[in-house]
Amino acid sequence: MKVLVIGGGGREHALAWKLAQSERVQTVFVAPGNGGTAQDPALRNVPLADPAALADFASAEKIALTVVGPEAPLAAGVVDVFRARGLRIFGPTRAAAQLESSKAYAKAFMQRHGIPTALYAAFTDAALAHAHVDRQGAPIVVKADGLAAGKGVVVAMTAEEAHAAIDHMLATVGGRVVIEDFLEGEEASFIVVCDGRSVVTLATSQDHKRIGEGDTGPNTGGMGAYSPAPVVTPNVHAKVMHEIIGPTLAGMAKDGVPYTGFLYAGLMIDAQGQPRTVEFNCRLGDPEAQVILMRLKSDLFELLMHATDGTLDTVELQWDRRTALGVVMAAHGYPAAPRAGDAIVGIPAGTAELQVFHAGTVLRDGQLVSSGGRVLCATALGDSPRLAQQRALEAARQIHFDGAQWRNDIGHRAIKH
Ligand code: AMP
Ligand code: GLY
Repeated sequence: MKVLVIGGGGREHALAWKLAQSERVQTVFVAPGNGGTAQDPALRNVPLADPAALADFASAEKIALTVVGPEAPLAAGVVDVFRARGLRIFGPTRAAAQLESSKAYAKAFMQRHGIPTALYAAFTDAALAHAHVDRQGAPIVVKADGLAAGKGVVVAMTAEEAHAAIDHMLATVGGRVVIEDFLEGEEASFIVVCDGRSVVTLATSQDHKRIGEGDTGPNTGGMGAYSPAPVVTPNVHAKVMHEIIGPTLAGMAKDGVPYTGFLYAGLMIDAQGQPRTVEFNCRLGDPEAQVILMRLKSDLFELLMHATDGTLDTVELQWDRRTALGVVMAAHGYPAAPRAGDAIVGIPAGTAELQVFHAGTVLRDGQLVSSGGRVLCATALGDSPRLAQQRALEAARQIHFDGAQWRNDIGHRAIKH
């Protein structure tokens, strides 16, 4: 059978790589894909992005299943377009994807259904927003409403920072800001597969959002991840299912927008083991997908066929017991102004324990060059977080492109645990 993956980042390379391992899958198309998916003989890039053009392609090629990687096509309604044409696609509808695309929608939803999260208020009026910050004090968190690729959030440690963020966001992103209480604790990514009624949990993971070692410097899309995340103890896991995932799926169904697709709850877990929802994403994380899929032993194609058939209740997943850890190699100047066009050499061949997933790469006249902020993710399995980290870093050190930046401390919390 033929499968189509929409997107072109590291998450989509990992999805395509894993789907291609299914005995039932002959070809995986990736739209638009990247330099890594271009080089893999099992994968084929197609230069399409428009939802209607993708649906035309899926019809013409008799694609058995389409899997959507990033949030933008989901928020643009690609699932609605495919379904209207009777094409099988895995992801949430445009209405359900508002859990990610609109912070105000997500916050109102969580409040309405009693899902633990930070207290918040939404403002369109700058003066009211400033007055709210004056009342609440710092630390406080200011978020732009709408997709801003991780750059729409300022965790302000002082009131001055919060005031500046409000003015900047209302002037640039526009519309509305959400201001919320600061949550203390350790973050984890909790991702599930939903068919509208039932849910299957994926392995837990933890991302490293800051550019610098020791979690310093500006936020990025994610500089590395590992799975499992020891902070999600069995007790925390049960609480997340009972207090967050269950009520979210029930609430969406009750609101008339049954949720299908990957659902990613970004959690903050406090010292008492109480989880709260920082955000929802309506997709897999990047780079969380790379480490999660590295550990998945079950057939991903079968899983997503069940999810689109509404038979997830019959599925049980098998996981590699080892730790998977991914180190992102980012471009010079990332995240503010990533440079493109640097030649990339020395990528080691994939093995059972190591895969270098591509993100911002392109094959130009047979030469691999960088084309985005996050360029590669060296992902390794190991018997401990430390061993997985060593293996991933060893691969990163073999690879060369000018200005490459990566963190040597990915997994530091798991190594400490
Ligand atoms: P978001 O885009 O909402 O996930 O926010 C990006 C990052 O900002 C999160 O991963 C957290 O590290 C941080 N953050 C967001 N909201 C809060 C909050 N209420 N309290 C503390 N940190 C937060
Ligand atoms: N790595 C964080 C995200 O995908 O949102």
